[in-house]
Amino acid sequence: MLKSHSCGELNRNNNGQIVTLGGWVDRRRDHGGLIFIDLRDRDGVVQVVFNPESSKECHDIASQLRNEYVIQVVGQVSLRPPGTENTKLPTGEIEILADTVKILNTSITPPFYINEDIEIDENLRLKYRYLDIRRERMKNNVILRHRVTKMMRDFMDNRGFLEVETPILIKRTPEGARDYLVPSRVYPGKFYALPQSPQQLKQLLMVAGVEKYYQIAKCFRDEDTRADRQPEFTQLDIEMSFAEEEDVMQLIEDLFVKIMEEVKPQKRIIKPFPRINYADAMERFGSDKPDIRFGMELKDLSDIVADCEFAVFSSAVAAGGKVKGISAPGCAGYSRAQINELNEIAQGFGAKGLATIMLDPSASSVEELTSETIKSQIAKFITLEQIKEMAKRLGAAPGDMLMIAAGDDATVSNVLGRMRLEMGNRLKLADPDLFAYCFVVNFPLFAWDDKTNRWEAMHHPFTSPKEKDIPILESNPKDVFSQSYDIILNGYEVGGGSIRIHNAQLQRRVFKVMGHTDESIDQLFGHLLEAFSYGAPPHGGIAIGVDRMLMLIAGETSIREVIPFPKNQNAYDLCFNAPDVVSREDIDVLHIKLLDEQIEE
Ligand code: AMO
Repeated sequence: MLKSHSCGELNRNNNGQIVTLGGWVDRRRDHGGLIFIDLRDRDGVVQVVFNPESSKECHDIASQLRNEYVIQVVGQVSLRPPGTENTKLPTGEIEILADTVKILNTSITPPFYINEDIEIDENLRLKYRYLDIRRERMKNNVILRHRVTKMMRDFMDNRGFLEVETPILIKRTPEGARDYLVPSRVYPGKFYALPQSPQQLKQLLMVAGVEKYYQIAKCFRDEDTRADRQPEFTQLDIEMSFAEEEDVMQLIEDLFVKIMEEVKPQKRIIKPFPRINYADAMERFGSDKPDIRFGMELKDLSDIVADCEFAVFSSAVAAGGKVKGISAPGCAGYSRAQINELNEIAQGFGAKGLATIMLDPSASSVEELTSETIKSQIAKFITLEQIKEMAKRLGAAPGDMLMIAAGDDATVSNVLGRMRLEMGNRLKLADPDLFAYCFVVNFPLFAWDDKTNRWEAMHHPFTSPKEKDIPILESNPKDVFSQSYDIILNGYEVGGGSIRIHNAQLQRRVFKVMGHTDESIDQLFGHLLEAFSYGAPPHGGIAIGVDRMLMLIAGETSIREVIPFPKNQNAYDLCFNAPDVVSREDIDVLHIKLLDEQIEE
């Protein structure tokens, strides 16, 4: 090795040792006589001192050094003179007195500062990702990723799971997104698809008798990129035979508790992870991924205002819809402009409007509110009693603002669920030191899709219905519940899974409810149904979104920050400039035709 120690590992215990270091020049300070170099490698930074009186030649080379030059230094570890220690640096008690220095490579000026934690345009960071990863923030995220995935592997291994790799070139799988397709050279006109997840493969591994499978698996989904979504992402994919819902959930709870306690011991988690029914999550939080770190729960106010004079409310109830509300604590002083802004946000979420009622803080309690201490554009259409009733149901106090929406239940819940997050964020209601996991359970098996005009699987079509609902599969699909669960962390879905169907007849029935014919079932899923006829064991599993989980652990707001080489917001790889054009010959062998204007000669 060209180095004997790493920069970051040195401390006062190494005092007096001769060491050879290799790394990058983080910064150089020329103090007339002495030159100081902060030398950086993956483990940290150490100060190197070049004294012209001990080695003139060495000092001359040091004066040519620039940031990001790669150097090798031989020198003696020495305690810093009293009063010059740097308590912020782990190596701050010592410095290296350089004897020799060799420039291993030079560097042109980087496009951004490597040694400072400042905001830099993300596209520039992605283009020069290899420089970005030299920076402290990204380096730490890469290390965190390694630590967490290693913990996952060790944990799964300890619990008797086998890591099995599965192919990337497979057949289309229905996981709800668009597939990435790869044209075949060998089979003209045919395509492989990249797996949206290894779902069917892990089920085949159960048929194969593997019993406990896991994999840190790459998944590919051609969907629009978002802060928590990438076209290519990573799952901790798990499947186990002879397992029931609770077994899978308990396994994940044990894993997550272990990871949190090891990488974030200073954060709090709620144990055991609450299990929340899907219907309750929708009712209380307006979302199937509730952020349970704070209250401000949605409440149904329909019965209170069903007969009020405010037509928006009464007609919504008359039409079978709902009037629901939340109470934003301490927001009674919001200005007209602020209320207008909230209205616009709510409209962006699909609301027709948002009614607000301000409860003046001068009242000593909700009971004491009067028409003078209530401010609202709708106050003249509803009685004081109705307002008090609503305030009480929403758990409001004087000083709070009631936010109320009316319409069909799904829209109202969705709008208020998102307004709840908006207000929770503004008011900083979520404790940043709390990691609130919960399982959402008892999902319906199907959801009606207005676009395709048929029942779609709410998770994926391999999910098992609850045993008791199997008889009503065809007659009453809307009331069939599934044996599935999502794991939520602070309002993000970090994983989902289910107990699967392992019986070919039942699987065929589910596909048929979803509008498939026997022919399309055989063409798309014949391989799986055939496998089920050879003694498939009962099985179930889950997949954890590794990138999302790491994003939350690292305290980042985008998964791009925890992926070494992500695509940008437009699904473009700025480092490699991909996707890119390819030659006409490359296209021709794939038996594909491009439009003339798409060909670059
Ligand atoms: P699902 O589709 O719910 O389930 O995916 C599991 C988890 O993967 C993460 N995830 C994503 N992360 C980043 N970018 C994306 N585009 C993306 N899509 C999903 C989420 C999600 O919870 N085969 C099933 C699992 C099973 O049933 O076992 C599946 O893939 O955190």
